[in-house]
Amino acid sequence: MPRAFILACCLVMASLSMVWAEAEPIPFAAPEENSIPAGPDGDLIRRGLLILTDTPRQLPDLVHSRLRCSNCHLKAGTVAYAAPWVGVTTRYPRYSRRSAGDVSLPQRIQGCFRRSLNSEAPAVDSEPMQAIVAYMTWLSEEISEGYRLEGWGFPRLAEMPPADRQRGEQLFVQRCAVCHGKEGQGRLDETPQRYPYGFPPLWGKDSFNIAAGMARLHKAAAFIQRNMPFSSGGILTIQQAYDLADFVIHQPREDYPPKVHDWPEGGKPSDARY
Ligand code: HEC
Ligand code: HEC
Repeated sequence: MPRAFILACCLVMASLSMVWAEAEPIPFAAPEENSIPAGPDGDLIRRGLLILTDTPRQLPDLVHSRLRCSNCHLKAGTVAYAAPWVGVTTRYPRYSRRSAGDVSLPQRIQGCFRRSLNSEAPAVDSEPMQAIVAYMTWLSEEISEGYRLEGWGFPRLAEMPPADRQRGEQLFVQRCAVCHGKEGQGRLDETPQRYPYGFPPLWGKDSFNIAAGMARLHKAAAFIQRNMPFSSGGILTIQQAYDLADFVIHQPREDYPPKVHDWPEGGKPSDARY
């Protein structure tokens, strides 16, 4: 083979691998809970962790549903493809099409209180909010600005098949009702230390409202395919996850009147519930 050709090949391969290296996401890793520092800084971080994993009981004046933040952000935001909070402090403030403006991290957190927990939100400068942000900042310590972390958000499923709600109902009875209840009401374990703290409600007044991210078909399907049935994530086909998601999100759930202000400049996603 002519040397010039081999050299050219090497150059092409070298430059390609440089491009790949740049696009390569950082492998997912979360710090261990026992590495939270001692002292007052650590106490605030631990308080945030407790609020996020025992939300209704820690904030009874604000939270009226029976969901904990960690019911969706699994293991307190340390699981890839379950909307982890690792690195989240470097992603905000961030433009939100739903609000047609930049939202800060505390504002994004308030959104999950109001929609995903169907509850009231702590003020931006309140003690619970400071504790939550302290925990998320600690989780994000190793991550620098402008990174791309593997496992961010929910997985991107390979296809978006049309969903069949009736098939979803049958699957729900077979695969989900044993933990989440026939009426989607869940089964709660009041022991705060025990992971995963019982089985959360999937619909009704104790669950997320129609304006939550989980009430959107593509997000619910991705979460379910990857993470459910609990501890056996990945066994459902994408079609089954879509059928289930379509059934679950269309069960009765609370309204969210301020939804009229969402997407003021358009761009509403096609799978929004309203
Ligand atoms: C073995 C019990 C079990 C089974 C079976 C199971 N789940 Fe779950 N599910 C859980 C637990 C536990 C959580 C909360 C995880 C946590 O807090 O760490 C959860 C969380 C969820 C959530 C997010 C929280 C909420 O309440 O909205 C959804 C959505 C969900 N499951 C849907 C499903 C669907 C659909 C199925 C059927 C394929 C299913 N689950 C089967 C135990 C189960
Ligand atoms: C019913 C499920 C559910 C519950 C409960 C929930 N969230 Fe979320 N959360 C979501 C979804 C869905 C997203 C959007 C994920 C995506 O699109 O990648 C999200 C996104 C977020 C984000 C932005 C993450 C990012 O990477 O940009 C933060 C921060 C957040 N939630 C905090 C909370 C807090 C704090 C609570 C408890 C008050 C909470 N969430 C409860 C489902 C939930």
